[in-house]
Amino acid sequence: MNAPVKVAVTGAAGQIGYSLLFRIASGELLGKDTPVELRLLEITPALKTLEGVVMELDDCAFPTLAGIEIGDDPNVVFDGANVALLVGARPRSKGMERGDLLEANGAIFTAQGRALNDHAADDIRVTVTGNPANTNALIARSNAPDIPAERFTALTRLDHNRAIAQLAAKVGAPVTDVTHMTIWGNHSATQYPDLFHAKVAGRNAAEAVGDDGREWLENTFIPTVAKRGAAIIEARGSSSAASAASATIDHTRDWLLGSAEGDWVSMAVTSDGSYGVAEGLISSFPVTTRDGGYEIVQGLDIDDFSRGRIDASVAELAEERDAVTQLGLV
Ligand code: NAD
Ligand code: LMR
Repeated sequence: MNAPVKVAVTGAAGQIGYSLLFRIASGELLGKDTPVELRLLEITPALKTLEGVVMELDDCAFPTLAGIEIGDDPNVVFDGANVALLVGARPRSKGMERGDLLEANGAIFTAQGRALNDHAADDIRVTVTGNPANTNALIARSNAPDIPAERFTALTRLDHNRAIAQLAAKVGAPVTDVTHMTIWGNHSATQYPDLFHAKVAGRNAAEAVGDDGREWLENTFIPTVAKRGAAIIEARGSSSAASAASATIDHTRDWLLGSAEGDWVSMAVTSDGSYGVAEGLISSFPVTTRDGGYEIVQGLDIDDFSRGRIDASVAELAEERDAVTQLGLV
């Protein structure tokens, strides 16, 4: 057995938490040989609910669960954390403008960024799932000057997985045949799921889709993937939870333990200027991961159609950055 890894999760009593915690505790994040200590953060009124979730975690008697700490103070909960999954966020309520949402979440992610900066372990790695995920990650990163920028990432793996599922269904192939999928930009309706570099059983996906490929790509594939979150809210009455938890595991596991050789995954990471994305924005790219690090895949051809889509989503990210800069959050 390895030494226990401290995994902090915020919003632990929420919907995503109710799926995520059990999967982490059972070894799906770090493997069956690595015990985990869960460090769970909630707001004070949700601590009672969280106590109930902890009772259920205890009742699972997971061999890989080495301990659980809960609390409402990020300075205590993040103490010594090696991994932080920032899931808790303020949802948009009736009458709230986008600026109000950025401000409400800004308060959460500035405080959590500072607490990570001051109390997390030196090897801390942060995945932000709570929306608006890219900009929340930017705020947390900006408030944690002692943590290397590359340790802050945001989740677009759910969009990546959705894109794989849609393509596999269209061509009648198993999802395992689909490789080299890419999500560019923001985790929002402007995201660009890119089929041009994707492959189905090694064959170019655009060709594999068949004669109506271009029409399907523009009018079905892209909007279905980009608006899937809204479709789930419409159908379920609340936002995606188990699939978001699953993607949070996929993203963080691949980052820590490495992704499949010869393929890549999508992660929103600090831009180094690759593909014309302004340096410093947290934008989704194709990345390869290994030994706790990642590299943005270089050298992909970007045609005019893709360029326009990437630019539109990156422009939205720049607007969000400007808004939180004006609010003094970064
Ligand atoms: P939820 O409302 O069920 O749970 C959120 C939890 O966060 C609540 O229990 C709340 O008390 C807690 N919380 C709020 N402020 C907090 C703070 N300051 N510190 C700690 N905890 C806090 O929501 P959910 O369905 O679990 O979703 C969580 C977030 O994930 C939302 O922002 C949602 O939009 C987002 N989400 C992102 C993706 C993605 O792909 N990036 C997908 C689905 C959902
Ligand atoms: C999703 O993609 O399912 C969520 O980000 C939707 C949302 O607004 O919570």
